[in-house]
Amino acid sequence: MEYMFDTVNIDDIKHYSEFFKIVGITSNPSIIKLEGKINFFNHFKEIRKIIGMDKSLHIQVVAKDYEGMMAEAEAIIKNVDDKVFIKIPVTEQGLKAIRGLKLKGVGVTATAIYTKVQGLLAMEAGADFIAPYYNRMENMDIDPQDVITTFASMIREYNYSTIILAASFKNMGQVNSAFECGAQTATVQPALLHAALEMPVINKAVEDFAGDFETVFGKGVSIVDL
Ligand code: E4P
Repeated sequence: MEYMFDTVNIDDIKHYSEFFKIVGITSNPSIIKLEGKINFFNHFKEIRKIIGMDKSLHIQVVAKDYEGMMAEAEAIIKNVDDKVFIKIPVTEQGLKAIRGLKLKGVGVTATAIYTKVQGLLAMEAGADFIAPYYNRMENMDIDPQDVITTFASMIREYNYSTIILAASFKNMGQVNSAFECGAQTATVQPALLHAALEMPVINKAVEDFAGDFETVFGKGVSIVDL
């Protein structure tokens, strides 16, 4: 059960990495749009510097055709580093690109997955990660729990090494549900994790404990002073 941050905001990555244990960073063109016109390759190199080589970095291609996807993947590998997982949307052209990249030994994250058939074909094409889009499936009246459960059972049944990297979350209930269905990893905006721990009842519990301690030992006294 692992988490990634679904953001390319440098300050958020630095800040929230102190609190949450993550195994990587994911992005897509819409996530990049939130930061404006970044210096594309330098920005990702900076993220790599922050997270280190032991965490995974997932960068999505924009091209829609096989040749374009392969060329963009090559540019990313050349200008960021060769450990980047190239995110490829699971279209017909995308499946060809996944196979092409795997033949070259490049890490691949199959993305924009709304259906079982997309995920299963991507697994068979050799994708290292498959990214089912939880919230977007719900928006389309597709059952993400059923889809993710099927992926998990097929991975078990046929011994695929593919990792389910669940994505597209709008609340932590969806994240927990993806894990319960067998996703090993979930990519989440840091703000969602932050909000999950900012519930008033949690803060009240902490305040109450501090108040009870103060009542017994006095104001401003810490355990280290005893
Ligand atoms: C991963 O990076 C996915 O592209 C992302 O989680 C999709 O999220 P969205 O459905 O909020 O666009």
